[in-house]
Amino acid sequence: MLKSTTCRKTQFTWLLLTMSVFFSILSLAERQTGTLCTPQEALTFRCRRQAEKSTLRNTKPKSKICTSDECLRTATNLKYSIDFTADPCSNFYQYTCGKWPEEHPNHGWWSSFSSFTTISERVAISSLTALASKPSSDDEPKSLQKSRDFYKSCMDIDPLDRLGLTAMYKYITRAKLPVVPSLFTLADTEKDTFSFDWVKSETLIKQIFMMDVFIGFVIDANIYNGSENVIYIGQLYQKCPLPSPIKQKMTYRLRSGTEYQELIRERQSNTIKYIIKEIITNTTSVQPVEDVLNEAANIILDMADYIEELNMNYTNPDETEEDTFSMTFSDIQSQTDIFLEERESNFWMSYFENLFTGTNITIDPETDLLYTTQLDVQYLLRILKYILESSKIHVELYMWWTIVYAMIINTSSDMVEYINKQLVYHDTENAVIARSRSLECALLVNNYMGFAVSYVLADEAFPMTTKPKVSI
Ligand SMILES: *[C@@H]1O[C@H](CO)[C@@H](O)[C@H](O)[C@H]1NC(C)=O
Ligand SMILES: *[C@@H]1O[C@H](CO)[C@@H](O)[C@H](O)[C@H]1NC(C)=O
Ligand SMILES: *[C@@H]1O[C@H](CO)[C@@H](O)[C@H](O)[C@H]1NC(C)=O
Ligand SMILES: *[C@@H]1O[C@H](CO)[C@@H](O)[C@H](O)[C@H]1NC(C)=O
Ligand SMILES: *[C@@H]1O[C@H](CO)[C@@H](O)[C@H](O)[C@H]1NC(C)=O
Repeated sequence: MLKSTTCRKTQFTWLLLTMSVFFSILSLAERQTGTLCTPQEALTFRCRRQAEKSTLRNTKPKSKICTSDECLRTATNLKYSIDFTADPCSNFYQYTCGKWPEEHPNHGWWSSFSSFTTISERVAISSLTALASKPSSDDEPKSLQKSRDFYKSCMDIDPLDRLGLTAMYKYITRAKLPVVPSLFTLADTEKDTFSFDWVKSETLIKQIFMMDVFIGFVIDANIYNGSENVIYIGQLYQKCPLPSPIKQKMTYRLRSGTEYQELIRERQSNTIKYIIKEIITNTTSVQPVEDVLNEAANIILDMADYIEELNMNYTNPDETEEDTFSMTFSDIQSQTDIFLEERESNFWMSYFENLFTGTNITIDPETDLLYTTQLDVQYLLRILKYILESSKIHVELYMWWTIVYAMIINTSSDMVEYINKQLVYHDTENAVIARSRSLECALLVNNYMGFAVSYVLADEAFPMTTKPKVSI
């Protein structure tokens, strides 16, 4: 969903959500200087220093010497960000932030690395320390107890190995998908008449896995009014937050020469076939036919490529926040009707009714709003057309694969080892470095139960002393 905007939007929400967390860890001063190294920030700092100097001259200095931990850390951070070899008058950014990347090396885990990443890391490590520090106890709030239990169960690997693949079946079924895809179980004659409620599964997958398959959806702060949350729809946005040693996307072939692409496709195809075979032999007494396995791998990879390409085609890196606008449910439905020649009338209402099943949310199609961009709408129309025109057997297989892949990388150790061998190629630029499971688990708990975790991390004095300074 709108790359640039989302990036800022996410970071903004991230800020809101974790403010209480990281302000207790970092000082306010540090946020304003070293860790958010942008030219504006640096300028502000310089101006403030000048302002401070003049105050110093006019008033008796109390203790303006930098001795607190926060101040020392900030000063050091700043010193190590400045590139003194650059000329501030010709390249101020290089001057203020030039040494930042050198001092904050990206060890290969992150596709991009910024001051937000280093803050996230610190939040992750603090969450880990807090969650792992003691078992849950009754004198703490229920939500905090639950987050400690959640962490503990995430760390309990023995049962995972014992359960192996079987741990996944319940969740595949809950998403209203078969444990073995219909491509493998139906006779050819049955395949022609096969029908499948993909909207039901798509919305269940969002509810269970927090993951987008075809339609990007997220509820987030309104970029035009931070005091309310709104619905954003468009390109794919959420990935499943389950911990996994393999964070690499399955579709990462669009990068370089064909030979390399072919190699990756082959490895991915092997992985898909291996996993499907394991699941089929684990749940039925038949051995899958090689031809059908090949067919399945091709269907999955072709669909993944198409969706990736569609996402790329409707992404404009220069998009700004102002490109986001709101439209009613009936507005988007009318556009859909025109594009799809009425083949999906009532699609959006039915989609959201499915998504909000079990809640008291009711939607008025004439007045309730969705937030999106022109490109996102174009993406949505095209993906709907694509699904409409694809065989439902293929759609089912692709959805099945999406959730199986999200779960499989943390089932049995054998499985993880196989996938690692196939997918982690000797490509140093793209090398994947696994993080400790404890950190992954702490992040998982923080993702799902951030407020509970912030309770234990937040400084008790935060609302009284720090918050007033940061409130705008
Ligand atoms: C922002 O949202 C809040 C909550 O929905 C609303 O009360 C307020 O009027 C909105 N402000 C503006 C400027 O629209
Ligand atoms: C399926 O996998 C589980 C867990 O690894 C194992 O206990 C069970 O025996 C397997 N079933 C078959 C039929 O292989
Ligand atoms: C993406 O754009 C290219 C160039 O316009 C086009 O050839 C291709 O078919 C598009 N892909 C999809 C999936 O729409
Ligand atoms: C829905 O509304 C009813 C009645 O107001 C209430 O009892 C129930 O808890 C609500 N359910 C949810 C999920 O909010
Ligand atoms: C699950 O992933 C973690 C890394 O996040 C890894 O250490 C662990 O071994 C995996 N679990 C299994 C059962 O392979």
